[in-house]
Amino acid sequence: MTPSRSDFPPSFVWGTATASYQIEGATTEDGRGASIWDTFARRPGAIADGSTGDVADDHYHRMAGDVALMADLGVEAYRFSIAWPRIQPLGNGEVNRAGIDFYRRLADELLEKGITPWATLYHWDLPQALEDAGGWLERDTAHRFADYAGLVASELGDVVSNWITLNEPWCSAFLGYASGEHAPGRQEGTHAARAAHHLLLGHALALPNIRSAAPEANVGITLNLYSVHAASDSEADRDAARRIDGLGNRLFLDPVLTGAYPDDVLDDLGEAAWFEQNATPDDLAAISAPIDFLGINYYSRHTVRAGTAETLPPGLASTNPGSEFVQFIETGALRTQMGWEIHPDGLVDVLAMATAKAPGLPLYITENGSAYPDVVSADGTVDDPERLDYLQRHLDACREALAAGVPLAGYFAWSLIDNFEWAWGYSRRFGLVHVDYDTQVRTPKSSALWLRDMLRAEVR
Ligand code: FCB
Repeated sequence: MTPSRSDFPPSFVWGTATASYQIEGATTEDGRGASIWDTFARRPGAIADGSTGDVADDHYHRMAGDVALMADLGVEAYRFSIAWPRIQPLGNGEVNRAGIDFYRRLADELLEKGITPWATLYHWDLPQALEDAGGWLERDTAHRFADYAGLVASELGDVVSNWITLNEPWCSAFLGYASGEHAPGRQEGTHAARAAHHLLLGHALALPNIRSAAPEANVGITLNLYSVHAASDSEADRDAARRIDGLGNRLFLDPVLTGAYPDDVLDDLGEAAWFEQNATPDDLAAISAPIDFLGINYYSRHTVRAGTAETLPPGLASTNPGSEFVQFIETGALRTQMGWEIHPDGLVDVLAMATAKAPGLPLYITENGSAYPDVVSADGTVDDPERLDYLQRHLDACREALAAGVPLAGYFAWSLIDNFEWAWGYSRRFGLVHVDYDTQVRTPKSSALWLRDMLRAEVR
């Protein structure tokens, strides 16, 4: 069924999302320091098309136009991220005034257009200086993050009231420190789980700093969750699903929502002794301190069966350390250009998973979207029927979850505009709005126009 706005509560938040390194460009301007992505993107072979985020969407210089674009689309909330190295070029010390000013101008511009700012404090651009000191494998990085978060909240708390501490710590830990597909590109095996703890500790230590700097703040964390299915009912396949659900979902959801790491996952990883010594009861109490909402990024599902190391596609063993006896299988369902299976029911599953652990906690889909090789037609339009279908089917799943009583409070489409898709560079387009990277011309795709019409149709 095609969703319409009246299917959702009047207070439902309708937004789009982006992240600093993926859109801003201007990586050496106004005192910005280097981030791990500046370094990693220069490593030969790291980025599929050899590109970097040096220019990206040039959003740093085109910010006002991009906000106007959102206003034209009738979008009411905007999730952006703050580049830590614009605020603290070396990851500590005084704020760089020009960095704060940029985000203040952005927030002012949004508020003037009636768009509510939602700021993510960490969407993967760690200051390189902190990586040089050990990065997220060091506990001290959590303290540095907490200081930074408090500084930003005290500077911008009057114009931003919605804060997301971390985006997808699973990716930061396991793609950054296990498979090495993302910055900083390290392959530390199961020690990547230690980075996960330090990331969650960073979230924990940031919470009181944000709350004391901005007492009215609405603060949460964003996790990427997967709907995980066993290929059969056999014990071995169900155990494979347990492992992947454990590593991808429970390793993050459980400490944040219930105050304990899942023992089975720490055992799978062989990291139980490290966690016993280093993840103290005080850490866990802080990590599970109340949040105002949970952000969920949902894209796809995994179907797994027991396998052998030889059956694993290259890369997956290292992305999922401790899970070498798992095979990810093809179900025959349609996939996006990323190769991610399209499974809207999984969005209902992950919302239910979070609600079961934290009944009543407001949930937001902080990312959901799809990549397709869009082209501008001769008449200047960009028709993207597959993305439109993906969007409509996932909104329909949101509606279904609401009908089942899940406290889903908003949806942010990934992404407002095509952008630098990490290790894929500019070769994957997730935008509702097309970007011509030669001219920086923005063209709303047909999915964006449908969203605009849907949002406008029933505004009272
Ligand atoms: C998520 C990231 C986001 C974007 C989408 C496609 O994992 O948070 O920046 O790259 O995937």
